[in-house]
Amino acid sequence: MRKIKIFDTTLRDGEQSPGCSMHINEKIELALQLERLGVDIIEAGFPASSEGDFDSVAKIAEKIKNSAIAGLSRALISDIDKAYGAVKKSQSPRIHIFLATSELHMQYKLKMTRQEVLRRIEESVKYAKAKVFDVEFSAEDASRSDRAFLAEAFSTAIRSGATVVNIPDTVGFCTPTEMYDLVRFLKENVGGAEKVDFSAHNHNDLGLAVANTLAMVEAGITQAECTVNGIGERAGNASLEEIVMGINTRPYLYNAETRINTREIYRTCKLVSNIIGVNISPTKPIVGANAFAHESGIHQHGVLAKRETYEILSPEAVGIPQNKIVLGKHSGKHAFSEHLADMGYADIDGDALQKLFDEFKRLCDVKKSVSNKDIEALLSNKAVVQNVKYSLENFIISSRKDGQGYAAVSIKCGGEIKTAIETGDGPLDSAFLAVEKIVGRSFVLSDYGVQSVTEGQDALGESYVRLAAPGGESVIGRGVSTDVIESGIKAYIDAVNKIIN
Ligand code: KIV
Ligand code: ZN
Repeated sequence: MRKIKIFDTTLRDGEQSPGCSMHINEKIELALQLERLGVDIIEAGFPASSEGDFDSVAKIAEKIKNSAIAGLSRALISDIDKAYGAVKKSQSPRIHIFLATSELHMQYKLKMTRQEVLRRIEESVKYAKAKVFDVEFSAEDASRSDRAFLAEAFSTAIRSGATVVNIPDTVGFCTPTEMYDLVRFLKENVGGAEKVDFSAHNHNDLGLAVANTLAMVEAGITQAECTVNGIGERAGNASLEEIVMGINTRPYLYNAETRINTREIYRTCKLVSNIIGVNISPTKPIVGANAFAHESGIHQHGVLAKRETYEILSPEAVGIPQNKIVLGKHSGKHAFSEHLADMGYADIDGDALQKLFDEFKRLCDVKKSVSNKDIEALLSNKAVVQNVKYSLENFIISSRKDGQGYAAVSIKCGGEIKTAIETGDGPLDSAFLAVEKIVGRSFVLSDYGVQSVTEGQDALGESYVRLAAPGGESVIGRGVSTDVIESGIKAYIDAVNKIIN
């Protein structure tokens, strides 16, 4: 079987799309999860784009041991220096250089001739190669480039030391047959092709990103670039979980396999969804709530008789927690910790375990039965801010049919408990105003949502808010409780803690 390397760019191509920005601690948490998932290369960011990106790439490079860390760079010496500065502490650092090769981009965006582009590729790849062994060259808009010129560009990159050449369908324009043909052509016409990995990087503007990537796997690429949940610019990138399970379900068709631990897929997808505050669509392949639900009687009958009649993969294979009742209020911390390990969370211990166990016990008091899904929700409510300044102590809420709300909110801040009373447009607006009064600052709320974790009247509600300081970047706050008002206030305070951190 050929090994297909999985190159995850959720933290770069995913994070740079509107509404998907992440707090540095969330980026680190996600990188650790990607490592657990078994991703071969994590593209941790674009270090020259901002100081924040540089810092997060550098932190991730230090922390991650089992995945290579890539930093994106334009074909500029100053960018390469920054990328190197950020990835150099990684055990397997990679510099990823990109430059456009289509006539459209060269003429109108770069204002460079073909010869100038080739010279720049040579100079930049050589410069990066003097710093790290592993250098990737991406020909931006490769799929709309003149094929002969693209082959020349890749031959130049390989001659200059590139270890990977990447073929982006930057604008999501091409079809699987076209991408298949392009790979075949390049493998035959690029000098030194046998020495390097050929890579796919597809955008989803026409809904073909995964199909294009799988066609390129058939054609012989050995690296697939993708993002968790397919997040990314415009309609997004090819989705990691769909590519991996596509290969995993039909290994003999592709004569290929990946190193991914598929049982970590659901946890990874849920983490990304929580971080960016965007729910996974119910019909999302692999991890959507309906991906394994069978409504039609004929299907239900078939699945009960033999699962394979209508299911080509199992929820267990991708780590979807079953909605089973797990433990009760009499369970001890040891049993709880063992159960967490069974769920794949063996890494939670010490203070984090104690905090989670306390939350679990509180939940047992108010909820008839606690399931794996509930525990997942408590886990996703982990604070990413190290020294949480504010936490919810208590609240009293009332509201009237005409919309008028009233809230008294008490917040713990250091050793002190502060209370504020506010009236507003409904109960949550009043509570949020009370929080702002205590904090002494006002914020801009651009989005709020709540969903239930399981069925039933005592189900946990998961709330999220998108909040920003005036003129600042927005952050996502999350809160979980069986009381939706409480989960909303917790989400608001979570976001405030992130903004002031
Ligand atoms: O879509 C694209 O062309 C890119 C490159 C930077 C690889 O993201
Ligand atoms: Zn891209």
